[in-house]
Amino acid sequence: MKPIYLIGFMGAGKTTIGKELASCLNQEVIDTDEEIVMREKKNINDIFEEHGEEYFRNLETLILDEFDNRAGIVTTGGGIVVKPENRKKLNEKGIVFFLYASPEEIFKRIENDHSRPLLKGDKKRLIQELYEKRMPLYKETAHVVIDTTNKDKAEIIQEITDCLG
Ligand code: S3P
Repeated sequence: MKPIYLIGFMGAGKTTIGKELASCLNQEVIDTDEEIVMREKKNINDIFEEHGEEYFRNLETLILDEFDNRAGIVTTGGGIVVKPENRKKLNEKGIVFFLYASPEEIFKRIENDHSRPLLKGDKKRLIQELYEKRMPLYKETAHVVIDTTNKDKAEIIQEITDCLG
């Protein structure tokens, strides 16, 4: 089986759904953010502060390369689609599910979170701006769009597994 990739904006539920999906399908799961934090032995805020966003994006590419031939589930950081190279890799190597949530819903979910370096400041405005830039990139990369609005975990998992046949 091809790897399954979950993409989507920060707060879309990729990591949570990925873990649940993995146990449902009896597959391994890796999370690109967790992998990066483990390797760098630093949290994401510190990585961005000390090395910048490009360094972080290059680590994401490296991890995608390492995992592209293994079966399993890969959950990704919301910005993985920023690099064209990553979009191509995701789309060609695996089955890509885009977990969609509205910007209002995203704001509600991550209003009190401080772990995301790109949302320091006026969170509502920053979410809106990034959201508009990235929406076409998620759509371009995905094979399937899953609208997570008003759905619980079980419903989202069911939709994904239905698509896998
Ligand atoms: C980012 C999303 C984060 C993390 C980093 C950058 C982004 O992951 O990779 O803070 O650029 O959207 P989550 O989508 O898991 O929050």
